[in-house]
Amino acid sequence: MRLGIIGAGWVAMNAYIPAGAKVTHVLDIDPSRATELAARCGAVVVWDLDALVAQVDALIVCTPPHEHPDALLLAMRARKPALCEKPVIRAPAEAELDPRLVMGSATTRLRDDVQQLLRWVEEERLGGLRRVALRWIRGAGVPAPGSWRTDRACAPLGVLEDLGPHLLDVAQAIVPDDDPRVVESVLACRHGACPRSAAWFGGEGNSSYAVPDYCAARLATAPGVEVQIEVAWADAEPRDVAQIVIEGERGRAALDGLFGFSTERRVAEQTCRLASGGAVELLHLDPGPGAQQRAFSRSIQRFERFCLGLAPACADAHEIRRVARWMELIEEHHRLMREMPQ
Ligand SMILES: NC(=O)c1ccc[n+]([C@@H]2O[C@H](COP(=O)([O-])OP(=O)(O)OC[C@H]3O[C@@H](n4cnc5c(N)ncnc54)[C@H](O)[C@@H]3O)[C@@H](O)[C@H]2O)c1
Repeated sequence: MRLGIIGAGWVAMNAYIPAGAKVTHVLDIDPSRATELAARCGAVVVWDLDALVAQVDALIVCTPPHEHPDALLLAMRARKPALCEKPVIRAPAEAELDPRLVMGSATTRLRDDVQQLLRWVEEERLGGLRRVALRWIRGAGVPAPGSWRTDRACAPLGVLEDLGPHLLDVAQAIVPDDDPRVVESVLACRHGACPRSAAWFGGEGNSSYAVPDYCAARLATAPGVEVQIEVAWADAEPRDVAQIVIEGERGRAALDGLFGFSTERRVAEQTCRLASGGAVELLHLDPGPGAQQRAFSRSIQRFERFCLGLAPACADAHEIRRVARWMELIEEHHRLMREMPQ
């Protein structure tokens, strides 16, 4: 299969290639990045999107989120399957997605530890669900300050569109509901400058920004499950942490540790704990970035099968739309509350 990649930046270089993506064609608006990635995987460099789409059988989209719709639109028009990084779209209106051609990256959902939680839910070990709470907090780590991630024109939702899609994708996999009601929301630029960037990300640090670096929201869903999410790029506590708690009528499942590629862990271990029917099960999982890399490998393998029509998408068009809609609802609620007369 001739596999193209558009966007030869951090995620292409540090996640897709090490995870086994057999890329044959590379496009980036930065020629040095395109050349470097192409040299690393023995691919050819292509200089425009039409040419890339014409020359490949399938495409991985690793450009910044505001560039995703253009690439997806061209791929869909040419009937070429595309695996797109998160957030695939940031609002449902950004693009109509063909479910036969677009697969979203769902690398947090595909981690071993998250899969374990989802299995416990699926096996109905918790009983009827009541609450799902998801957090991903970075101690000090605005990724690549000064880049598109902190540019209001490119990524106005800041941390909500960076870490948020990972958690919302997991939440929507647990809770079957389309339009939840947002009960509370905070979307704030609390720090506005970063004393230090995420070292593992290769950022330089020390630049100011005006996009949200903190988001917390509480959503009420129709099946009666409350969803809470909290994401931050900076915190009073040092180092990073990720947690998921799922509470049901008969039990409670919890994941403690960290997601992603950061090595700056707040808790040393990566655990999944199930308390149900008077018994407790405690599992110790891989605490390193290897767990994230495995999830990328799974995503790539799934995409190869998706292209051949042998497997459904990891994140399908409906799920991608739900994540985008939930982000949109949080932003809308926050805006409405801010505009309300006090
Ligand atoms: N799943 C994960 O764990 C994970 C981790 C990091 C990034 N991401 C996602 O991957 C995507 C890229 O993030 P990144 O960290 O690699 O960013 P990056 O800035 O390092 O790389 C983006 C690349 O896209 C190129 N580019 C921008 N516009 C382009 C265009 N129109 N045509 C061709 N190339 C273009 C840039 O020159 C750059 O090389 C984002 O959607 C991000 O959210 C996902």
